[in-house]
Amino acid sequence: MKIGIIGSGNIGGTLGSHWASVGHQVMFSSRHPEELQAMADAVGAQVGDSKTAADFGDIILLAVPFGIVPALVEEIGPLEGKILIDATNPYPQRDGDIAQQVIDDANQTATGFIASQFRGAKTVKAFNSIYFKVLEEQAFQSGDDRIAVQITSDDVAAKQTVAGLIEEIGFAPQDIGSLKDSPIFEPGAPLYNQNLKIAAAEAKLSQALRQREA
Ligand SMILES: NC(=O)c1ccc[n+]([C@@H]2O[C@H](COP(=O)([O-])OP(=O)(O)OC[C@H]3O[C@@H](n4cnc5c(N)ncnc54)[C@H](OP(=O)(O)O)[C@@H]3O)[C@@H](O)[C@H]2O)c1
Repeated sequence: MKIGIIGSGNIGGTLGSHWASVGHQVMFSSRHPEELQAMADAVGAQVGDSKTAADFGDIILLAVPFGIVPALVEEIGPLEGKILIDATNPYPQRDGDIAQQVIDDANQTATGFIASQFRGAKTVKAFNSIYFKVLEEQAFQSGDDRIAVQITSDDVAAKQTVAGLIEEIGFAPQDIGSLKDSPIFEPGAPLYNQNLKIAAAEAKLSQALRQREA
């Protein structure tokens, strides 16, 4: 697959390197693509600016600070027809008013906001809830040793494609449902940044759902 990485830091750099190492065509991007050349060369990936990576990928990984997304959409467009993997989280200290507004809006989820910005894309929420060092150091496990990666989407086929990308690099997709179900693995929620193996993550999800219903 052709994967464009928008934001090639802790999360984007790690995931892009993993995907390139299992044979996908990857393009890293940031505001300073020249700084990404050594990382790209190490895994046979390409570098470009954000718009070039957005045009290149059939699948786009969004791994930038949440607060810059509205400006980014102006730059790269709505990603019509592409799969958008949203790995972002809203942190008001870093991302400003826009993050606080999304958090305060009971009718809005963080990933719902991202999906509303990229209206043409098939948004899949994933990788927002795994610490980048875990992503780096615990990849390529098998069976019960795999760390869970929570995933949601309103597009079943797109979710299946991204679940495949999770499995290929040795993590276990944990299907949480549709985009509206994402808050259970957004900041402060029970499944956020737990970095659990899949069986423990399933137990944690069941417990959280029981508590919610009680
Ligand atoms: N760190 C984690 O463990 C972790 C885990 C899960 C999810 N997340 C979430 O994932 C996102 C990225 O986190 P991170 O830790 O990977 O951040 P990071 O290491 O700071 O990387 C952010 C990337 O975005 C690029 N960037 C910043 N502003 C940009 C812009 N206006 N246009 C294009 N690229 C831009 C940066 O490169 P330049 O400055 O060179 O442009 C950098 O490549 C955040 O929303 C974070 O909450 C983080």
